[in-house]
Amino acid sequence: MATGKILAGFLAPHPPHLVYGENPPQNEPRSRGGWEPLRWAYERARQSIERLKPDVLLVHSPHWVTQVGHHFLGVPHLSGKSVDPIFPNLFRYNFDLTVDVELAEACCEEARAAGLVGKMMRNPKFRVDYGTITTLHMIRPQWDIPVVGLSANNSPYYLNMEDGLGEMATLGAATRRAIERSGRRAVLLASNTLCHWHFHEEPAIPEDMSREHPQSYDGYLWDMRIIELLRQGRTREVFELLPDFIREAFAEVKSGAFTWMFSAMGYPEMPGELHGYGTVIGTGNAVMEWDLTRVA
Ligand SMILES: [Fe+2]
Repeated sequence: MATGKILAGFLAPHPPHLVYGENPPQNEPRSRGGWEPLRWAYERARQSIERLKPDVLLVHSPHWVTQVGHHFLGVPHLSGKSVDPIFPNLFRYNFDLTVDVELAEACCEEARAAGLVGKMMRNPKFRVDYGTITTLHMIRPQWDIPVVGLSANNSPYYLNMEDGLGEMATLGAATRRAIERSGRRAVLLASNTLCHWHFHEEPAIPEDMSREHPQSYDGYLWDMRIIELLRQGRTREVFELLPDFIREAFAEVKSGAFTWMFSAMGYPEMPGELHGYGTVIGTGNAVMEWDLTRVA
């Protein structure tokens, strides 16, 4: 069996509004569109997935919270209805997905071998969280590529931030070893928003884009600074700034997916491709790609 490898990583945020704006048949609520620049950004990312043809998509979501350890979807086939608890008016999605259980088990084993608490999720009726579903739908709406879902232990919120993010880096390295062992050609998805300052009231028409803009100018400036560094491939500087960015912009990358992905990729100092940026209820969202096949 050939050694597996990570083909690419994507920053792939999960505002359910993007699914709502698209009106796929799986989602019950109907809209008149909205958030087009971000949805068009995902269209570009979808073309990259089509070109890369990965065997598996791995996604780490902040909204599958497991306080004891890092959990992995471990049921071959999962279906049901995923509802966003904050926006049930926008996201009630009938999902149907296939899990690469063999790779998930390898990820769990490698995480344990690295000293982390790892657990396989074996509940056949498990309701997959909206973060996982939104990211996967936006990147591959055909649902024809098996997935590995990783939970958020959220250790950066309970430990101090540096130790918590250090644990996510360990999880990333473990994930890479599991992928290499498995022979899979994998794509990683970090399901994170950048600046997470948001509005507290929803417009009467949620997709009324005359009401959509950054909630915080300082947060917007932080997002532009981080994106510009990522576009230039200055990864080391981004990770030096990350704790300040998280503190000042309330950035969702604190939940660890971004660190997990970059650790798994070996922190490449390569320019990230920005597919697009936009706000959702005032939060900053970038769809970005790091195509490792271009440097291999
Ligand atoms: Fe979120």
